[in-house]
Amino acid sequence: MTSEPMKHSTSHQSGITIVVGAQWGDEGKGKWIDWIAGGADIVARYQGGNNAGHTLYVKGQKVVLHQIPSGIFHGGQKCVLAAGVVINPGELVREMAKVAPFATATPDNLWLSARAHTITPWHIATDGRREAQREAAASGSAIGTTKRGIGPTYSEKTARSGLRFGDYVNPVARKNWMEAMVSAVDGFAAHCESHKAEWDAFSKVADQLAPFVCDAEARVRKAAGEGKKILMEGAQGTLLDLDHGTFPFVTSSSTIAAGACASLGIPPRAVTGIYGIAKAYLTRVGAGPFPTELTDETGDALRERGQEFGATTGRPRRCGWFDAVAMRYAQDVNGFDGVILNKFDILSGMDELKIAVAYEHPELGRIEQFPWNAEVLAACKPVYKTFTGWHGELPKTGGIEALPKAALDYIRAIEKSSGIKVVAAGTGPGRDEALLGRDLERLVALNS
Ligand code: IMP
Repeated sequence: MTSEPMKHSTSHQSGITIVVGAQWGDEGKGKWIDWIAGGADIVARYQGGNNAGHTLYVKGQKVVLHQIPSGIFHGGQKCVLAAGVVINPGELVREMAKVAPFATATPDNLWLSARAHTITPWHIATDGRREAQREAAASGSAIGTTKRGIGPTYSEKTARSGLRFGDYVNPVARKNWMEAMVSAVDGFAAHCESHKAEWDAFSKVADQLAPFVCDAEARVRKAAGEGKKILMEGAQGTLLDLDHGTFPFVTSSSTIAAGACASLGIPPRAVTGIYGIAKAYLTRVGAGPFPTELTDETGDALRERGQEFGATTGRPRRCGWFDAVAMRYAQDVNGFDGVILNKFDILSGMDELKIAVAYEHPELGRIEQFPWNAEVLAACKPVYKTFTGWHGELPKTGGIEALPKAALDYIRAIEKSSGIKVVAAGTGPGRDEALLGRDLERLVALNS
């Protein structure tokens, strides 16, 4: 994918659009957010931190962004890290340097919410320590976090003892916070001593970031009032949502569409479009239940063909068949206007394909609704519908309707079994590698 906006003839429409990962993250949101962002005035990340990774190709060069929205490459767009985000300052400065050959991040085009919370060296160390404890526990309860300090930073926030970004860049407020932590938290002072270089670096970049910090939410609301086009982009995915995901094997933020409104302080009524990004199969990194997981050569084939290795940690992703039970749930939770089915080309060449349409639980029998309990989900076996695959290259562009019959049947089966509308299908990493589906007009309008 490239960062130049794709042009369409549809006229500029105002509105607020939310783009959400519909599965366990890694749906390839980067490509589509970049595609849609072409027509936006403002692109705002609404949750997560540098646990996310968006891979982009800018002028033929691969750039992986963890925090800055890809809108930075579009020129003239405002990029926002909103209140619901947690920010790693040192990593953010490094990321600014990474984008520098292609785009300059300035206080005019990068707005850092003063309300966002700050990932500190302490939170990163705590994430590593807690994960090591969970790994060592006999219960095998490790979550497989990215060890970027995400969970501890959000914990600190909900405990109301976190460091907001507006306070981080204020030397007096930062000092007060450090002192409060020293007196309240066992081991904090010792950590500051033993990791002095990290803490010095942490403090040093504050001055550099200070000009970027603002009441970003007020600015976004003002822009919305002026009819500007706003894209709110999620990280991770619906099934990793803190409340609605497969708890405790989740991330620590609200990944779902509603989370965007909470983070930006935008009235839900103002939202004009909600789009989900799903893969045509399913992947998961980290631990947790995954009923359609394939631990055989078919799973290996999906991983190899789809290059399913984490953009942030490089970990191999667990791969499996498309799960319509989980997708119905994602549709219910988010209310998608449409879903983009990404990496559809990866399925070419498989003799048969499967979609889980229900689960079978040893005690509860047939389950059609995604269970709230991770233990129940872990015991579920998928009930599959099997489809004939297709061989040979698919068209890379054009309309979904032009697909060979087997491929089109598979998409229609996904729509029917999941209760979703597939508005586009991804056929490769390139910007133009997309098959356009039904009711695409609104999505296309966003991009113009
Ligand atoms: P954390 O967000 O680092 O706390 O990790 C919690 C869980 O979310 C782990 O299973 C991670 O693998 C998963 N996770 C976090 N970020 C991503 C992502 O961007 N894509 C996919 N999984 C993620």
